[in-house]
Amino acid sequence: MKTVYIGMAADLLHEGHINILKTGAEYGDVTVGVLTDKAIASYKRLPYMSFESRKAVVSGVKGVTRVVAQETLDYVDNLRKYKPDYVVHGTDWQTGVQSKVRDRVIEVLSEWGGQLIEPVYTAGISSTLLNQAVKEVGTTPNLRLRRLRRLIDAKNIVRILEVHNGLSGLIAEKTVVEKDGQSYEFDGMWSSSLTDSTSRGKPDIEAVDLSSRLQNVNDVFEVTTKPMIYDGDTGGKLEHFPFMVRSLERLGVSAVIIEDKTGLKRNSLFGNDVEQTQDTIEDFCAKISAGKKAQVTEEFMVIARIESLILDRGIEDALTRAKAYVEAGADGVMIHSRQKEPAEIIEFCNKFRATHPDTPIVAVPSSYNAIFEKELADVGVNVVIYANHMLRSAYPAMQTVAQSILTHGRSLEADDMCLSIKKILTLIPEGQ
Ligand code: SPV
Ligand code: MG
Repeated sequence: MKTVYIGMAADLLHEGHINILKTGAEYGDVTVGVLTDKAIASYKRLPYMSFESRKAVVSGVKGVTRVVAQETLDYVDNLRKYKPDYVVHGTDWQTGVQSKVRDRVIEVLSEWGGQLIEPVYTAGISSTLLNQAVKEVGTTPNLRLRRLRRLIDAKNIVRILEVHNGLSGLIAEKTVVEKDGQSYEFDGMWSSSLTDSTSRGKPDIEAVDLSSRLQNVNDVFEVTTKPMIYDGDTGGKLEHFPFMVRSLERLGVSAVIIEDKTGLKRNSLFGNDVEQTQDTIEDFCAKISAGKKAQVTEEFMVIARIESLILDRGIEDALTRAKAYVEAGADGVMIHSRQKEPAEIIEFCNKFRATHPDTPIVAVPSSYNAIFEKELADVGVNVVIYANHMLRSAYPAMQTVAQSILTHGRSLEADDMCLSIKKILTLIPEGQ
């Protein structure tokens, strides 16, 4: 019996996949290499279904003899291992990101006289189209909540954008940039205390209460499907933090980040220009533990934010705290800095990674903004948060238009700076 190898993501299984599997079965004994979450996230969005579910579904398809994991987009390792007579893949990979993968398949197959079979790609159906359809249907709190951990496991770096209302949520949800044959988008959203307060005309001092902030989260969740990390400020009093955790979980928020400050909280980027007090390690650890004990789901994350560098206490203090917070149950650490250069963040990450190879690290490069995501990933950062950019860009645009109207006594001159009436009317389609 001849042998056949078919690699596939098999997320939203459609007739195109079945066609490929049927063709494979006509050539011989079919082994399917199901791509792992990591392999898929290396070139496109994370699949909806977990690896285990995708594997189970493919195993049940008629004509499939064996299902194995394909750990990379590149087929070479599995091909050398199974030495199939044939590889079957639709014609769609002849162009785009996968064309290089195809070249390598042909090259490696030739080592033992194997052959590539390419049935014509099934038109009118694709995972991209199904993905759009699924997004329109929406998500559930549980599915959304779990997604952050999966993203952290699968991606080199998880990219998060600040949102402060439904409209900015839609920008985080829908903005896509195509570059070098790959598409780039945000993986999730940040509910920032700074922009949530500022958009209400209030200072960032925990003056906006939890209920109002949750109303905003709910507005965002009504029109999006991506996961959210919530800026929990100090987490409030020890006795109050468990209620915050429960409320966030109920809505489907994936993680809360609380900072180790106490008393009247001021924004970190003020540094020591204002009075700010760091909490004791003992008290902050107790708060983390109280939050962890309160959570209902397994996947919700409590992330500890270390303010030592913000308050000029030094790297050693930051490291001591990071280790204690993880010991107390924190699922990750966020290290913050207000320096223009990333040196102290890089030093912290390298030192922390030496003792904690897997604990997620979150970075917020608002001040040291010249650093590239790849550089952060290289020192072990798992999540990058662009923490305030939607509101910071909206405000000056609105102010300029307001000034123009006052200056000219009419709105004509401001018109070019505005979305056309026609576009604003159709920006949000009816029935959404
Ligand atoms: C926020 O976005 O509210 C934050 C990050 O906490 S920072 O403003 O940099 O402190
Ligand atoms: Mg904040």
